[in-house]
Amino acid sequence: MEKKELYETIFKRKSIRNYDLTPLDQNILTKISEFMNNLTPLDSDIKVELKIISPDDVKRRVMKKAPHYIAVFSEPKEGYLTNVGFMLQQMDLYLSASGIGSCWQGIPKPTKDVLQGSDLEFIILIAFGKPAESLHRSNLSEFKRKPLNEISDIKNTDKLLEAARFAPSAGNSQPWFFTGDENMIHVYSNKPGFIRGLLLKKYIRLDVGIALYHLKLAAENFGKETQITFEKTAPDYSNKGYEYIASLIQN
Ligand SMILES: Cc1cc2nc3c(=O)[nH]c(=O)nc-3n(C[C@H](O)[C@H](O)[C@H](O)COP(=O)(O)O)c2cc1C
Repeated sequence: MEKKELYETIFKRKSIRNYDLTPLDQNILTKISEFMNNLTPLDSDIKVELKIISPDDVKRRVMKKAPHYIAVFSEPKEGYLTNVGFMLQQMDLYLSASGIGSCWQGIPKPTKDVLQGSDLEFIILIAFGKPAESLHRSNLSEFKRKPLNEISDIKNTDKLLEAARFAPSAGNSQPWFFTGDENMIHVYSNKPGFIRGLLLKKYIRLDVGIALYHLKLAAENFGKETQITFEKTAPDYSNKGYEYIASLIQN
């Protein structure tokens, strides 16, 4: 799939929670597996394992059933949650761009058998399948997101930051902040309020990985070469409650 198609999907995708429970055709599942096995990592030294599992392998708790799930496992190394967010957001956009609904799901958990089937740490599930509701948003106003000036103090990079602003996040907490300039954008996480923080803490770094992927995809869409680095010179914003994660260099 062209990067342009993934980029354009940023501005219409939504979480799908109502599914037609008929399993997808085998040839579609094969294509999905192919894409899934070729995701770009943020850090290729971190082992990640992705498995497509059925609803019988999932304890759904309050969530409605989906015909398929991706179970995500990772080696618990420095930066692993950001890496998972960055990788699996490629999947979320690919599925949506292919006419298939999907939703990151932190609430359900795989069954014991599935958990015991991997040596890595279980991180999260992504539900997917044929949507039983509208697949896309038809207007940007349907996105509930913070305004740009609440998540960034950079001028003249709106085109890139808009892509990050529309990223999905656990509980829609949007725990990110961007500073720097158009050549180097520094990405930070921030803490949601106390109660939400208790529930969503686990996902903050994962959410930032999702936004970081949107940022990189946007820069590449505008013809830039990108690199994601850890910059020792990134400003310390801890007094504002922001924790530095990584920087995107574009040229
Ligand atoms: C890490 C993560 C975990 C999530 N967990 C759930 C979940 O358990 N149940 C759910 O209904 N939505 C879940 N979501 C979806 C978010 O609620 C959704 O992305 C957010 O509200 C923004 O809405 P949108 O994706 O439709 O743009 C999760 C999203 C992320 C990124």
